[in-house]
Amino acid sequence: MADDTHGSLTWGLKKSFREYVSGISDRNIALDGVEEATEGSFTFPISDGTSTSEDTTFSAMGTLIVRAHRGMLLVRIQDPHVTLSGSAGSLSAITRPTGERQQLCRLDVKVREAGALILRVELADDGAPLFGDIYPPGTVMDDVTLRLPREKR
Ligand code: HEM
Repeated sequence: MADDTHGSLTWGLKKSFREYVSGISDRNIALDGVEEATEGSFTFPISDGTSTSEDTTFSAMGTLIVRAHRGMLLVRIQDPHVTLSGSAGSLSAITRPTGERQQLCRLDVKVREAGALILRVELADDGAPLFGDIYPPGTVMDDVTLRLPREKR
């Protein structure tokens, strides 16, 4: 339910990654509780969170799995969380079926407006292996858009 009432986290990972995958013949994109948004990005509904002018913590739910190259390429983003202290923070997600949560990206607030945050996203050291270590840490990924649940604005 990527609606205005409950809030949502929208992220497209990286445009060039989506374009690369879209050219692989056996690609498969599986979504569970996640919706495809405009321009190929994905929307995860918010399940919990708080936002003050200082600290923001939001948990989203749902699973996105990108598979290709007969399963050798497997990127799982499950239940992404955003935590911000002031204007900087991190994005974490569960990336394995075993349920380990790991930090994937560093975040910086680009735009803060009523009910929404647009976040600049850089790959963190721990996030690089998810993409086969092809993007070095620090690589700029797609922005994350966080739409806050109505009652938390
Ligand atoms: C059979 C195994 C694989 C083959 C043959 C393969 C082949 C390729 C090729 C040819 C490119 C260059 C594409 C281009 O520049 O247009 C590429 C890029 C890439 N591959 Fe793979 N790959 C394989 C496995 C993987 C795995 C396991 C991952 C891990 C997630 C991965 C992630 C990537 C990424 C992130 C890029 C860069 C895409 C971009 O942003 O331009 N690949 N791969």
